Amino acid sequence: MADQCDLCLLGLIILSSLLTGTSGVDENVFISSGENVRLSCNNDLSDCNSTRWIYYNRFRHSAAVALIADGIKKKETERHERLSLGSDCSLNIKNVTKEDPGLYICKQFVNGEQVIDADVNLHVLHVSVSSSSSSSSSSSSQTEISPGRSVTLSCQLYSFAGFSCDYWVRSVGLHLLWVNQTGVDLTTDSRYQILFSSDHCIITLTTTLLNEDDNREWRCQLTLRNQLKTSVRYTVKYSASETEVSVTAGSLFRVIVIIVEMAVFAAPTVILLQIICARRAGRKDSEEIDMPTILQ
Ligand SMILES: *[C@@H]1O[C@H](CO)[C@@H](O)[C@H](O)[C@H]1NC(C)=O
Ligand SMILES: *[C@@H]1O[C@H](CO)[C@@H](O)[C@H](O)[C@H]1NC(C)=O
Ligand SMILES: *[C@@H]1O[C@H](CO)[C@@H](O)[C@H](O)[C@H]1NC(C)=O
Repeated sequence: MADQCDLCLLGLIILSSLLTGTSGVDENVFISSGENVRLSCNNDLSDCNSTRWIYYNRFRHSAAVALIADGIKKKETERHERLSLGSDCSLNIKNVTKEDPGLYICKQFVNGEQVIDADVNLHVLHVSVSSSSSSSSSSSSQTEISPGRSVTLSCQLYSFAGFSCDYWVRSVGLHLLWVNQTGVDLTTDSRYQILFSSDHCIITLTTTLLNEDDNREWRCQLTLRNQLKTSVRYTVKYSASETEVSVTAGSLFRVIVIIVEMAVFAAPTVILLQIICARRAGRKDSEEIDMPTILQ
């Protein structure tokens, strides 16, 4: 019930912000992860003593969280180190993360009476990278990868709970796209597979890396009614050793040798440990432990 009310409230806030356009009361701010952002309180008071900043995102907390109260930063919030109160009572967030999206509410009081109530919806664009050579993904702007590998860049817009990307795409003109350094939409180039899902507000770019891709830059852009709101850059970086075939072959050989040695010497120990663990866990049906195929 409470959730439904919250959703209605959010819906109204968003709707009113859309209808009123730039009323300055409700605002949507789009930013990329890693950047700094300033959320305005639309303040016209001479000091920030009464300023209260409240954060709400149902994905993360069941209730609203006070970040700033009586102009003083709350120490106990997990990200208080990245927050500060500007001289105009704005809320500054350093190094925005994909956990930061949500509704930020600024309230100010004069003689105990609320005079300001500004709502800012923060949306965060974030790129994560996965390469076919490993199952792990990293989200740095640069990652160690090599030619011949397939790489997938996932660019996702993170928002508050209840945000409908689909609605924003159809009715507000939200658009995510991957472009190259000269700003050309990469869907026009057949070497890239580009998929957009409005369910998760994500656009993925998949391509097989070429030798000449070293230092190549791809950008994920978020536009609203054809206006650029924010973008994330991704730069391809090959490590020196991996681009040299001989070194790759050499290190590959060494890795195989080490794996075989490990298997020969470590396998009995591993099996022993597994038997001990199985007994400890009281499992009577401990499954047959096969010798590693590499030893057969
Ligand atoms: C409000 O802030 C001013 C400085 O901006 C300070 O001089 C004053 O004492 C503060 N008032 C209260 C009630 O804390
Ligand atoms: C920003 O945050 C990320 C993790 O979210 C961290 O890896 C990085 O070092 C931070 N950058 C700065 C400048 O604090
Ligand atoms: C961007 O893509 C267009 C079309 O594929 C191409 O003509 C142009 O050279 C590319 N620019 C860069 C810097 O890769």
